[in-house]
Amino acid sequence: MHKFVIVGGKRLEGTIRVSGAKNATLPIMAASLLSSSKSNLAEIPQLEDVRVMLYLLEYLGAKVQRDQDRVTIDSGQVKPLEVTEELMRKMRASNLIMGPLLSRFGYVRVSHPGGCAIGSRPMDLHLKGFRALGAKITERYGYIVAECEKLTGAEIHLDFPSVGATENLMMAAALARGQTVIRNAAKEPEIVDLQNFLNGMGANIKGAGTDAIKIQGVTGLGPVEHMVIPDRIEAGTHMLAAAITNGDITITNIIPEHVEPVVAKLKEAGITIIDGDDWIRVVGNGIIKAVDLKTMPYPGFPTDMQAQMMALMTIAQGTSVVSESIFENRFKQIAELRRMGADIKLEGRAAIIKGVPKLSGAFVEATDLRAGAAMVLAGLAAEDVTVVENIHHIDRGYERLEAKYRGVGAKIMRVNKN
Ligand code: UD1
Repeated sequence: MHKFVIVGGKRLEGTIRVSGAKNATLPIMAASLLSSSKSNLAEIPQLEDVRVMLYLLEYLGAKVQRDQDRVTIDSGQVKPLEVTEELMRKMRASNLIMGPLLSRFGYVRVSHPGGCAIGSRPMDLHLKGFRALGAKITERYGYIVAECEKLTGAEIHLDFPSVGATENLMMAAALARGQTVIRNAAKEPEIVDLQNFLNGMGANIKGAGTDAIKIQGVTGLGPVEHMVIPDRIEAGTHMLAAAITNGDITITNIIPEHVEPVVAKLKEAGITIIDGDDWIRVVGNGIIKAVDLKTMPYPGFPTDMQAQMMALMTIAQGTSVVSESIFENRFKQIAELRRMGADIKLEGRAAIIKGVPKLSGAFVEATDLRAGAAMVLAGLAAEDVTVVENIHHIDRGYERLEAKYRGVGAKIMRVNKN
């Protein structure tokens, strides 16, 4: 088990390059199962979740070659083998293989993913959509089986704009007979990247990025070359690293439009933001003003940035209210931040944060990926030494986080805990 040891209080200055987006990479890798040809991918981040997805693809029979940020996936020999509980537990996003396998083979059997650290996370919207496309779904003994002769295009109205359901249904509909329209679709940038990847394979999809996605089914998909978009959550986390340390960080390989919800909140908090075509510079002004926020589907404030923003608010001037509307159990960072001197009260799905002048270093835990990132940010700002344990959660979604922060002057070390 590794942990981070952080000597806080350093002003971070310099440049950080953002890696490719985890949440674009995972569905794109799953979508590579749709064709029997090669998918050549670039800007693939070196992350634990990506390693798990590649392992899953290899288990299903894909041939994978990896060279730094480039990955080639040859899905010619893939079979719709059962995805066991062990594989599903390693990563919830493993459910993204359902749409592609169902569409290509007419059969998929996966262990029910169940809940996770941040909420109950049902699959009902995915399954309702598969049913609308003509699949028969059976849920027994902890497994979900979806089967069909041939999927047929349909009108699907999602009850909630679920990211995963939108992606799974786009992939399922890509090879279906006729046209599918997904209404109330998720509009996240990762959905647009998936559309671009699928169209690169020969699919006929329009409307990603809006709430209506139209998919005209095609009979087969071919080889593709694709470069994954930059990770907007990683970028947002570095923006907050600059703000919380009163620093001056230029973040490169970024699509500024994708981080607008975070930029808007930082400006409201009195942080200076200067942006270019593919970079953003974030400069602290010595004062952080308290701001309220509520997480919403894109283009609202992302739930994946909520914990990090709360870390910033712990040392803001005044009181802020942070409301979580996407996941029911996403406040695990509160107990850890309190250990560092934060003043936070929880009222249902809202946290009331009274800013304190300083946080102090403590032993804390990364309870999940983004809560873990919040603890690193808190540690960077705090007085004295913070030890963040269970950082395997952070490694799921941040590539060499400690190296990136050391590069801008942080004192942060990875230590192997015995
Ligand atoms: C994706 C992201 C995750 C992010 C989340 C919301 C990936 C790999 N992960 O997760 O980092 O936090 O979007 O932006 O891209 N829901 C249902 N029924 C369903 C599906 C979802 O009720 O069938 C609910 C969930 O429980 C949750 C909400 O919808 O409350 C949003 O979930 P969803 O958008 O599906 O998130 P993921 O795709 O799992």
